[in-house]
Amino acid sequence: MEIKRFDNKVVLVTGGTSGIGRATAVAFASEGAKVIIAARRENLGIEVVREIKDKGGEAIFIKTDIRNPAEIDSLFQAILARYSRLDCAFNNAGLSSLGMPPAAKITEEDWDDILNTNLRGTWLCMKQEISQMLKQGGGMIVNTASVLGLTGEYGLASYCASKHGVIGLTKTAALEYVHKNIRINAMCPGPIRTEMLEAPMAKYPKMLDMCIAKTPMRRMGEAQEIAGAVLWLCSDESSFMTGKEMVVAGGQGVAS
Ligand SMILES: NC(=O)c1ccc[n+]([C@@H]2O[C@H](COP(=O)([O-])OP(=O)(O)OC[C@H]3O[C@@H](n4cnc5c(N)ncnc54)[C@H](OP(=O)(O)O)[C@@H]3O)[C@@H](O)[C@H]2O)c1
Repeated sequence: MEIKRFDNKVVLVTGGTSGIGRATAVAFASEGAKVIIAARRENLGIEVVREIKDKGGEAIFIKTDIRNPAEIDSLFQAILARYSRLDCAFNNAGLSSLGMPPAAKITEEDWDDILNTNLRGTWLCMKQEISQMLKQGGGMIVNTASVLGLTGEYGLASYCASKHGVIGLTKTAALEYVHKNIRINAMCPGPIRTEMLEAPMAKYPKMLDMCIAKTPMRRMGEAQEIAGAVLWLCSDESSFMTGKEMVVAGGQGVAS
């Protein structure tokens, strides 16, 4: 029988109903993992689980809003009741601001929504993941940041602040748990063709050209190109890597 990289591993993917999370959930399952998909849209969650099962994999969907600590508690209770462990977590759920207002024009409501989802939600999930990984003797965590966690961008102050925060959180937690066999890294995608970019691109048609012009490979990335890198970060192949951001961005940020 073929041995797969994530056979018998229990893997959580937040934001697994679309885009990068969905592609990564499918990729983990195809490598033998038992995948838990957590997000809000039940219809899409059920669809991804069906796709995985149709391909012979194992997955469940647990409806979760990562802004809500009680829902995160329920998520982890359900994971542990079913599997008693969590080997890998991909904290990927996130959102971007649609209106692209300059910093002084961002509303408090929008600021809180972005920060509560991208940064606080990631931290709330990590609290549960780390406490379980400490009990079981180790684990792997990958947090989705962005190339915009490393630079600024016009109209995206709250998003950039949240993703810089995710990188700071990743580095600090990685140091704190380095001797506990828990590795924690950040994935920094460049522009990837997903729902997150489709909406602003429909509103600002020039955005696609701008994204491509800023990317030395002169194209958008595909979600599967991030999934492959996330699986590597969660595998033993990256065993000497922790506390680092991996940039997968078609060459963005390379030239001065
Ligand atoms: N696309 C890009 O160019 C790009 C570049 C750099 C970084 N990223 C990051 O990559 C991650 C995935 O984004 P994507 O591009 O794949 O976009 P996407 O297709 O819009 O996916 C976002 C995912 O996050 C989930 N989500 C949002 N708010 C949530 C909440 N409160 N609770 C639970 N789940 C929530 C969504 O699911 P539900 O709506 O079902 O809850 C969805 O599954 C994000 O963190 C994003 O910031 C994307």
